[in-house]
Amino acid sequence: MSGSYHIHTWGCQMNVHDSEKLAGLLEREGYVRASDENDADVILLNTCSIREKAAEKVFSELGRLRPIKEKNKAVLGVCGCVAQQEGERIYQRAPYVDFVVGPRATESIAPTLAGIRAGGQRGLRVVDTAYRDDSIKFPFDEIRRVGEGRAKAFVTIIEGCNHRCTYCIVPTTRGREIYRPIETVLDEVRSLAAKGVLEVEFLGQTVNAYRDENGNTLADLLTETSAIDSIGRIRFTTSHPAQMTPRLMDAMAATQPKLCAYLHLPVQSGSTRVLQRMRRGYDRETYLEKIQALRSRIPGIVFGTDIIVGFPGETEEDFEETIQLLDEVQFDTVYSFAFSPRPGTKALDLVDELAPAEKHVRLQRLQEHQKAIQARRMARWEGQTVEVLVEGRSKRNTQRWTGRTVEARVVNFEGPSETGRLEQVRITETTPFSLTGRV
Ligand code: SAH
Ligand code: SF4
Ligand code: F3S
Repeated sequence: MSGSYHIHTWGCQMNVHDSEKLAGLLEREGYVRASDENDADVILLNTCSIREKAAEKVFSELGRLRPIKEKNKAVLGVCGCVAQQEGERIYQRAPYVDFVVGPRATESIAPTLAGIRAGGQRGLRVVDTAYRDDSIKFPFDEIRRVGEGRAKAFVTIIEGCNHRCTYCIVPTTRGREIYRPIETVLDEVRSLAAKGVLEVEFLGQTVNAYRDENGNTLADLLTETSAIDSIGRIRFTTSHPAQMTPRLMDAMAATQPKLCAYLHLPVQSGSTRVLQRMRRGYDRETYLEKIQALRSRIPGIVFGTDIIVGFPGETEEDFEETIQLLDEVQFDTVYSFAFSPRPGTKALDLVDELAPAEKHVRLQRLQEHQKAIQARRMARWEGQTVEVLVEGRSKRNTQRWTGRTVEARVVNFEGPSETGRLEQVRITETTPFSLTGRV
């Protein structure tokens, strides 16, 4: 049975890319993308549960979609990390949902949909939260990339996480690590290259833990990918500091300039005491040494990071150590969050005396501090010419184009251009978060 579909997506790049697989899965079944969610026959929510707010958003969204679902007799499915975390319980709060399928069990979506739409199984409330390999094994030629024909593409190489950070829900929602064989990954990259893709970004919750059954690592994958002529830019995300090995750093240096001189390396805290309680597997000094080791191999490399403020037991001194770490490293990008307690995680057992309001004060202090660092760092681009991979028209101002430099820096610019081109852009203006210029 055919019809149209609409997918809502929250969360990390892995989830954004999973939605491209969900779209492919539905199109394989004969569904077409709906021009408007109000007309869709199938609505999927691909959800994120990393923080409580993200997970709660799903339920308000379900409430908003309910009248649309009822008017159209649409099928409403909850997928992704909230599906995995909540399972059966989704129906207690949203009994009108038709199915709940976790991120590792996506192949059950097609038969479930067929059953429901054939009429017999409406109200069956299917739940599939098995830890299978459906998503990572999804045939890459069936992925429906959001901008098909675009210049950049995500490629999953590892799924799941074997770490046990005490605050984190991901090991529960995504299961243990599984890896794609390097040959399959390279086949996908070659097929993307043949379609004109210039930039690939390898994805995984701990992408640098990648190791296939023949022992190939991310270092090998970078080396092999950089040998593909028409691939001009290579990125990978997200890396765990403990798995940033000298061998990987050497491969990063050897694959310059194709390997973009930008690394997202979440530190979470600048205090060794806090890092221990987070069970991150490294201390402040080791993290700084890795940054140094990368800078000495790749001059000009820039870094991004994630920070959690207000982790249980974080003292004012701990927090100040984090601020000092920002000064020391001089990150180009920092994603910062107030600690959010997640169900079933170890951090729930820790004493947390800091009031939520105080956590938010710390978060704001940190963000203000980093904003000043970024303002200074970005100002150095003024008057320079940078190479931008054009991603499309700017959403805010459709007269302008938007794209990224190798350092993953957003550039909005004027002048004649086209999606997928590499442009030389002269920077005329900078803010802490983006650059403006003209071709
Ligand atoms: N795999 C990545 C992180 C994925 S989650 C890594 O190991 O670094 C993305 C970010 O969300 C994390 O880096 C962390 O900063 C934040 N985060 C995760 N759990 C959180 C929680 N319970 N409260 C607040 N922020 C959290
Ligand atoms: Fe979560 Fe830690 Fe795994 Fe990252 S490494 S996904 S923070 S458990
Ligand atoms: Fe969110 Fe799941 Fe990604 S919890 S951040 S969508 S792995």
